[in-house]
Amino acid sequence: RTVYLNGQYLPEEEAMVSIFDRGFVMGDAVYEVTCVLDGKLIEFEGHMTRLERSLRELEMTCDISREEWLAIHRKLVELNGVTDGGVYLQVTRGNAGDRDFHFPPAGTPATVVLYTQSKPGLANDPHALTGIKVISVPDLRWHRRDIKTVQLLWASMAKMAAEKAGKDDAWFVEDGFVTEGSSNNCYIVKGNKIITRNLSNDILHGITRGSVLKMAREAQLEIEERPFTIEEAQAADEAFYTSASSFVMPIVEVDGVSLGDGTPGRVSKRLREIYIEESR
Ligand code: PDD
Repeated sequence: RTVYLNGQYLPEEEAMVSIFDRGFVMGDAVYEVTCVLDGKLIEFEGHMTRLERSLRELEMTCDISREEWLAIHRKLVELNGVTDGGVYLQVTRGNAGDRDFHFPPAGTPATVVLYTQSKPGLANDPHALTGIKVISVPDLRWHRRDIKTVQLLWASMAKMAAEKAGKDDAWFVEDGFVTEGSSNNCYIVKGNKIITRNLSNDILHGITRGSVLKMAREAQLEIEERPFTIEEAQAADEAFYTSASSFVMPIVEVDGVSLGDGTPGRVSKRLREIYIEESR
């Protein structure tokens, strides 16, 4: 693979970052994942708008323009011949010279890394046909989940807990209500009504979430943005999650309880079709 590091396109083995980089030492970094479908970048502008916001919220600076971000994304997709997959982008606060809690002096350059991941047949993921099963775990993450930081340890532990339980993913629960999935936004469906948690600092403002809700409104589905409980989810007709890398993914089981007839629901399947069709 050819990757991008601080202005250079390099073979992945040659891309090196300092051991003092704050991304490495402090998890002081933000990221984005933009999907590639049929060689085309999906929702690029949305991801860049959120990246700029994440950087601003953490008082991080990075002087790459929208046009330059686009050029880098396109070049990596082309150089690596990516048809389906994604582009991972990470910006760290840079190399502090030594370990220090304080931010490095103004003018310290950010570390910028981008690389592609190929996932052939992404739009035909067999999981979407069977639906996936989730368990719930407490949400032990920090309270600025609206910022897309690389501090993914709890998300990673939650995914491992799901795997150990023989399931596919985990939902985070806080104060009795579902916040979001380990790496996605989640939804339950009752009849023609979609219920999903309202935007706040408690969840990541998913780019896919924004588009899917818009498409759902256009398809005359009703939308209620509010927190819901595990019990409410278990009594729902269907459930699904959204993310850049999975689009709309039907969920058929929550904490051991099957939803509906235990197969992907009508609304979930329809939204997945609409989203993939309109993205292409
Ligand atoms: N995850 N919530 C969390 C905690 C996430 O990590 C993600 C994305 C989402 C969905 O956001 P979007 O629709 O903008 O992808 C919600 C990415 C895909 C990842 O970490 O790989």
